[in-house]
Amino acid sequence: MDLNKITKEIMISKEALAEKTRELGQAITRDYEGKEVLLVCVLNGAIMFMSDLMKEIKLPLEIDFMAVSSYGDSTKSSGVVKIIKDLDKSVEGKNIIIVEDIIDSGLTLHYLIDNLRSRGPESIEICTLLDKPSGRKADVPTKYKGFEIKDEFVVGYGLDYAEKYRNIPYIFVLKEDVYS
Ligand code: IMP
Ligand code: MG
Repeated sequence: MDLNKITKEIMISKEALAEKTRELGQAITRDYEGKEVLLVCVLNGAIMFMSDLMKEIKLPLEIDFMAVSSYGDSTKSSGVVKIIKDLDKSVEGKNIIIVEDIIDSGLTLHYLIDNLRSRGPESIEICTLLDKPSGRKADVPTKYKGFEIKDEFVVGYGLDYAEKYRNIPYIFVLKEDVYS
């Protein structure tokens, strides 16, 4: 795979991602002092972000994973959210932080928050690496946010197009001809 041939623009460098992740981890550490947190990783996109973020949180911490589908292989949300893999453990009484790669329409997180709230946690917040506010269809209260980006489809650092490019350690925009 020749990255030079498929890259339109490198949007967020490895260094910028590391710095932002550290800041978010420090903010969470401060805000939850004296408490325990449960990080819920939304698979598959948030995997790289969560593995870096959790190293920066200096608190007693548990992790769990959930997989939902709303996209298929296209680049726009279908609006239909389905749980593909549920959490392994109960969240009752826990301080949940949902860790997400990107919020676009907000439909996925809107559904997830409602779903998790019904299970009786102590609190729920969201930590998203990226936010595309221009695509929003459902309101989601986002306490922790890495970067606001323009309405462009991005890949890398966990984010995919048709399941590829998750392994590239920075965020970039693909050239148009990759989609055709
Ligand atoms: P939403 O329901 O429209 O907010 O979509 C959220 C999900 O869509 C994210 O968790 C991503 O998996 C996916 N997604 C949205 N925008 C992008 C993008 O630019 N690149 C890769 N995946 C995206
Ligand atoms: Mg995702």
